[in-house]
Amino acid sequence: MEARTSGRRILLGVTGGIAAYKSPELVRRLRDAGFEVQCILTPTAAAFVSALTLEVVSGSPVLGEEYLQPGVGGAELHIQAAARADLLLVAPATAHTLAALALGLADNMLLTTALAFTGPVLVAPAMHAAMWNQPAVAARVAELCARGVEIVGPVEGALASGELGIGRMAEVPELVAAVQRRFAAGLLAGRHLLVAAGPTHEPIDPVRFLGNRSSGKMGFALAAEAARRGARVSLIAGPVALPTPAGVERFDVETALEMEARVHALAPSADVIVLAAAVADFRPLAAAPAKIKRSAGVPQIELVANPDILAGLAAVAPRALRVGFAAETGDDDAEAARKLLAKGAHLLVANDVSRSDIGFGSDQNEVTVHWRDREPLRLSRRPKSQLAGDLLDLITRELPGSDPVDATAR
Ligand code: PMT
Repeated sequence: MEARTSGRRILLGVTGGIAAYKSPELVRRLRDAGFEVQCILTPTAAAFVSALTLEVVSGSPVLGEEYLQPGVGGAELHIQAAARADLLLVAPATAHTLAALALGLADNMLLTTALAFTGPVLVAPAMHAAMWNQPAVAARVAELCARGVEIVGPVEGALASGELGIGRMAEVPELVAAVQRRFAAGLLAGRHLLVAAGPTHEPIDPVRFLGNRSSGKMGFALAAEAARRGARVSLIAGPVALPTPAGVERFDVETALEMEARVHALAPSADVIVLAAAVADFRPLAAAPAKIKRSAGVPQIELVANPDILAGLAAVAPRALRVGFAAETGDDDAEAARKLLAKGAHLLVANDVSRSDIGFGSDQNEVTVHWRDREPLRLSRRPKSQLAGDLLDLITRELPGSDPVDATAR
């Protein structure tokens, strides 16, 4: 009996890494989820997984170099393949293919097809941790992200070398879930999401400030994913060195007072406000007009409290769903639950910022989500990009008139 399909067609690009041995399983699971799958093998991938295996499990001809020739009816096959697909997933993606995709190179069947493809692109990198951590790779990943490409993984675990580190391809169920999420993309259409991200810098004098270690990654991941899901996204960014995600309107601010002013200006039209920013609680009463000289001795700096932006939101955006984060040192559920109520939030996402593998600056996070009327939900450590999707699933579920996918079911 024929399996029922969604009619959605996935092009699966398989490149030459050891994780390619998982491709037949990935094809199977995608088909189980109702997708039609056509595979494209790069020349090196063919050394790791056979075209015949992929052809049998996908039920479609596998595209390779031999097809880089004029196709049926005068149109070239890579153009046809790109035109017929709803989504391109490259898994595993080697460092070479990542860079080639970022640069727009087109010297194999996968790259030429990718260049002709205009729909959503998901890329699942897989490589040794030493390669993944190279600035050259990070720069290509940032370029792809800025163009709206979704990077799924990599995750931490045993690498092909036997060492432990970040670089393993995301697991097959995660890849299938990421593909499914893309087809839920319209879920936030028509909604306005306001996200505040990064630290604030409170000037002491023209060269010094009070600040914290927030990189902005968590908030930027939320903004990027919300934009992919069709939301209008306003991102208020403290001083961070991150590119603006595709489709997001960005407002740069420096201090807590500037962040508050921008939040208040945008909040009245927002359906959801997410404060992932690490707002400084205190600022110097007055910034010195000139650099404070060491020779003048140790300065006495009087601090005053900054406004609590989250706590003030109920007054300026009473109908918006208000989501806060809580930076705790340790797992302090009682403190997170206190903040949820004290700050008038609907959801509070607590993370342990004393850990170096999550929280500040890390690409991964692990959180506990607190509600006013439900038991807290633990979301185990995962890439911030993936966590952003899971949090948006939960947030969407709280919005009136939504029938979103269930993050907790995964
Ligand atoms: O930016 P990354 O490097 O990716 O790191 C992510 C993160 C650790 C910064 C993020 O996940 C996080 O925890 N953000 C909240 C940090 C924080 O300020 O926590 P808090 O417990 O001090 O504040 C609780 C909530 O009140 C937060 O939503 C905060 O934005 C808000 N707040 C705090 C102080 C203040 N004056 N005004 C506020 O609105």
